[in-house]
Amino acid sequence: MSQSIDYTERIPNNVDLAGDRRLQRALEAWQPAFLNWWAEMGPTLDTSDVYLRTAVAVGREGWAHFDHVALPEYRWGVFLSERDQERKIAFGASKGEDVWQQVPGEYRAELQRLIVIQGDTEPASVEQQRRLGLTAPSLYDLRNLFQVNVEEGRHLWAMVYLLHAYFGREGRDEADALLIRNSGSEDSPRILGAFNEETPDWLSFFMFTYFTDRDGKYQLGTLKESAFDPLSRTCEFMLKEEAHHMFVGTTGIDRVVKRSTELMREHQTEEIAPHGGIALNVI
Ligand SMILES: [Fe+2]
Ligand SMILES: [Fe+2]
Repeated sequence: MSQSIDYTERIPNNVDLAGDRRLQRALEAWQPAFLNWWAEMGPTLDTSDVYLRTAVAVGREGWAHFDHVALPEYRWGVFLSERDQERKIAFGASKGEDVWQQVPGEYRAELQRLIVIQGDTEPASVEQQRRLGLTAPSLYDLRNLFQVNVEEGRHLWAMVYLLHAYFGREGRDEADALLIRNSGSEDSPRILGAFNEETPDWLSFFMFTYFTDRDGKYQLGTLKESAFDPLSRTCEFMLKEEAHHMFVGTTGIDRVVKRSTELMREHQTEEIAPHGGIALNVI
């Protein structure tokens, strides 16, 4: 059985937002700030004709089903993998006990910090990549870029949901701050150094999706083991989207290297820049 997502809601979700009016209102109040941020800090290129996949169902067997929508109609939502009623804590002092559905007081600060740091990286990468649409090598690459960008935006939603739903006033303040910090900003930079670097060209983008998204995969894989079950379920779903980001990186670098070696053979030289290639020592 798969759990379908309600797209008639202002915020599509599979967490029964309608059943918690206070939370729903708080997230609906955050939504315009997010959309402003997307307009100001998201892709600079007009995106009206770009069709993207969006999650329409979350299955127990680990499958997310996707459908295509035009980017302006893209709806960022809150999707958690289905709950495993039997899930137990896998290690540590509470090993073997039921996983936590609420945040235990003694781990509250640490959990909040982890979620804020994860949440901070998601919009940061969108900011880093915002101008790449202007120099996309092909329509295929442009679509991949925007797909990655909207999903990083959704990952921000994923963390903001947790902050709003489980961390009270402080969580709401942290959710606001996620839109205030910006990549490379002098006054309020992103938390992690790598997310304040520029991603000025497509080789950097492919390297980012190859290495940084891979790092992100392990990070999410770790958080998926969390005893705090809502965090675990959120990360499980994010990992499904993350797989595509790494695909973009791997195949992107593959294509660049392949072209470089073709040009090297064709012109019998390693100096392929004059022939429109990227030299291997640059890669
Ligand atoms: Fe992400
Ligand atoms: Fe990613």
